[in-house]
Amino acid sequence: MAKIQPLTAEERSIRRTAEDAATQLSSRHLLGMQGLSPAEIMLILDTAFVMKNILSVQTKKTAHLQGRSVITFFAENSTRTRLSFDMACKYLGATTSNIGSSESSIRKGENLFDTVKTLEMMSTDILVMRHPQSGAPHYVAERIDASVVNAGDGMNEHPTQALLDMMTMIEYKGTIKGLKVAIIGDAMHSRVMRSNVWGLTKIGAEVRVAAPPTMTPRHLEHMPCRVCHDVREACADVDVIMGLRVQLERQRSALFPSVNEYAHFFGIDSECLDLARPDAIIMHPGPCNHGVEMPTFIHEHDRSVIHEQVANGVAVRMAVLFLLNAKRNAELSAN
Ligand code: NCD
Repeated sequence: MAKIQPLTAEERSIRRTAEDAATQLSSRHLLGMQGLSPAEIMLILDTAFVMKNILSVQTKKTAHLQGRSVITFFAENSTRTRLSFDMACKYLGATTSNIGSSESSIRKGENLFDTVKTLEMMSTDILVMRHPQSGAPHYVAERIDASVVNAGDGMNEHPTQALLDMMTMIEYKGTIKGLKVAIIGDAMHSRVMRSNVWGLTKIGAEVRVAAPPTMTPRHLEHMPCRVCHDVREACADVDVIMGLRVQLERQRSALFPSVNEYAHFFGIDSECLDLARPDAIIMHPGPCNHGVEMPTFIHEHDRSVIHEQVANGVAVRMAVLFLLNAKRNAELSAN
């Protein structure tokens, strides 16, 4: 008689994770960090570490999303996010296709609903979308059956970026709870800042945001962070210094006199590192304007974890796709 092969430790943990997703996730969509509970955030981060282990072995390909189809729809430019979602799908065994707005019928005037409905009707299970309009993924999630993952909506949220940032902090600092994090740069236009403030503070970190007054959104005062207009004040005694890109493409008029002046007052330099804790790490979501947000030697500093952030992006996106698929399966079988 054929013996039943026992499950490997990895298979057991993946099976448990899928069961947890069904019971612990409140939605089959991932739209923002603001809507996630601390338990949901920790479930995604724990799963990301399992995925990172899978990525560390020789044969990275798994079948956890076999038979599922994912479309990544990017109506804004992207290197890291778009490719890491695509690679995450491939490592999980899903069928994947990509479309950008410049090559889609949006250029012919097709509206957002018709576009995403068309994508969904191709038997799509998960739609990953980036859009210049804040709230676009929320609008879509209410109108289609596929799971929607927000890969960055305008100036609102970028949840998978915050999750990969949090994963990187756990890797280097052991925990999020009690960390002091300084986020420095173009806060006005940054969905990365907003997602990080919501996510980090839910898990017990203290966040300071430093930006020139012209790049400080008014609503920041109502978010759970300390607003600073001085980089030195923000960096004092922190565990993490995170730079934000100056988003010239979203600025309608010049918000600072010159790049040199911005770099002088808000660039992350050696003095910032000296003020921070001696083991503080340097982060940036990329792409970085070298010499503006930070000079190249800070970007490549031995305390910089910027390249590791990119690696963790794949693991986090694998975790998100895996968990949302499990949640969606549970919903479909309950109906
Ligand atoms: C960020 C984004 O698109 O919001 N980049 C990214 O996803 N890695 C930050 C930025 O573009 O400045």
